[in-house]
Amino acid sequence: MTRHLITSAIPYINGIKHLGNLVGSQLPADLFARYQRGRGREVLFLCATDEHGTPAELAAAKAGKPVAEYCAEMHDVQAEIARGFRLSFDHFGRSSSPENHKLTQHFAGKLADNGLIREVTEKQMYSLADGRFLPDRYIEGTCPNCGFESARGDQCDNCTKQLDPTDLINPHSTISGSTDLEQRETKHLYLCQSKMRDQLQAWIDSKTDWPILTTSIAKKWLNDGDGLQDRGITRDLDWGIPVKKGKEDWPGMEGKVFYVWFDAPIEYIACAQEWVNAGKGTDWERWWRTDKGADDVTYTQFMGKDNVPFHTLSFPATILGSGEPWKLVDYIKSFNYLNYDGGQFSTSRGRGVFMDQALSLLPADYWRWWLLSHAPESSDSEFTWENFQASANKDLADVLGNFVSRVTKFCRSKFGEEVPAGGPEFPVGSSVLADLETRIRAYEGHMEAMDVRKAANELRAIWVMGNEFLQEAAPWATFKEDPELAASQIRFALNLIPLYAVLSAPFIPDTADTLHKAMGVSPEWPGPAADALTRLQPGHGFTVPDNLFAKITDEQREEWQERFAGTRD
Ligand code: MF3
Ligand code: ZN
Repeated sequence: MTRHLITSAIPYINGIKHLGNLVGSQLPADLFARYQRGRGREVLFLCATDEHGTPAELAAAKAGKPVAEYCAEMHDVQAEIARGFRLSFDHFGRSSSPENHKLTQHFAGKLADNGLIREVTEKQMYSLADGRFLPDRYIEGTCPNCGFESARGDQCDNCTKQLDPTDLINPHSTISGSTDLEQRETKHLYLCQSKMRDQLQAWIDSKTDWPILTTSIAKKWLNDGDGLQDRGITRDLDWGIPVKKGKEDWPGMEGKVFYVWFDAPIEYIACAQEWVNAGKGTDWERWWRTDKGADDVTYTQFMGKDNVPFHTLSFPATILGSGEPWKLVDYIKSFNYLNYDGGQFSTSRGRGVFMDQALSLLPADYWRWWLLSHAPESSDSEFTWENFQASANKDLADVLGNFVSRVTKFCRSKFGEEVPAGGPEFPVGSSVLADLETRIRAYEGHMEAMDVRKAANELRAIWVMGNEFLQEAAPWATFKEDPELAASQIRFALNLIPLYAVLSAPFIPDTADTLHKAMGVSPEWPGPAADALTRLQPGHGFTVPDNLFAKITDEQREEWQERFAGTRD
């Protein structure tokens, strides 16, 4: 049976992520991992913090802490929030781990052995005021491609073009603001991606089932000739993985570190080693080495669109260039951006809802449901408080919550807290069973295809069917004339609850848990609907769960709207 290796783009260590970051990688990855586990498939779901490079150094400096200490603290903060959102990583690792140090140095050594690394003496921007080189985010200026004024030295946030600090127009130091910069000579390692162009092109051309968002970005980079320029993989920084050729020193590279975008994706592999070393697993090679059993692994990566070039070109170049039998990604699911209430989320301006704040307002399931059912798949999407309130109140409270409450309470009052006997096995004259069969199988299809919104729509439709059935069957009326028939109707409706629980678990795991417990069953993925809906037999005990979802009031909505509008503009 297929095993699923699933990774989410690893979040930068600096700061707590906002809901847009969450829905762009970690949350849909969790949805898929939970679904696959629910189907009984073996899953290894990995994520980590991305701890090197200038973002980490800048944030640590701002917090007035040594960078290693800052990273250790922030890792724990992010891990705790991930637990709060019920992100079910098998391991949440760290790109600064000893495992990643060793593996990154190993890859560099292999690439060098295979003639894919060249040493380049080049001019880099040096700040006289700061007395240091200014790689990546230590420098900002105007993007030569789109004219955006705060493009960073490594990438333009506006047009996503990968940049070199020397490309920027009117550059300045982000440490001191100084414009007193000059180009100085320094030696760096370059990965010869251009030599692998044909190999990468053929690989991407073979991925005919990938989402258009993924392949269009990959092809643009390949065909611009842009993404496949040889890229510097080292930096003049203190914090990072020291440049070594495997276990050996690299003459002339003393005091330099690997570029964060070189070591970060390697952490996907190192993270599996961390998982083993933490005692949670026994064999990481089975997931990552095609010579050690990873041939039957399906590997899926989740990420925002700005990450696509690194995952379709740079990281595969590292893997293929090593000449070793590492597992390559099978499917890349990428996302557009989530905007916030008529603009963008902004970390610096405190605009929008951040992960820790979200959990302080409402339980994780509210957020998971809204974010996933509005995932920015075919285009950017937008969070508004009105939409959030409407969708939580309707889908969760009125549809799902209300159904469960009506059925369990009605049964308790007329038949007691056990599944009633009597009447026909299935409600007579209703097409609900056949419709459910169709919808369950459609839901599975969307989940397999990672069509997140379509899956959410199908799930919602399945919930709605329960209310429609109750409305039509009206057991409270039937009960007066024909209690046996009412018993059959209620038995059917009660059986919908464990079905709803198991189908909904990837989206709203806490609610699913509550429902399974209340109905006294463990999760079981549905086979034919007729079997799934006779699972609870007459006499099976249950309890009435507490109100599943409180409605979001207008006052709450208005207060939150104001609170998260952002401080500085
Ligand atoms: N930290 C990066 C971001 O948040 C993602 C790194 S993904 C990896 O955009 F592949 F490099 F690990
Ligand atoms: Zn730009």
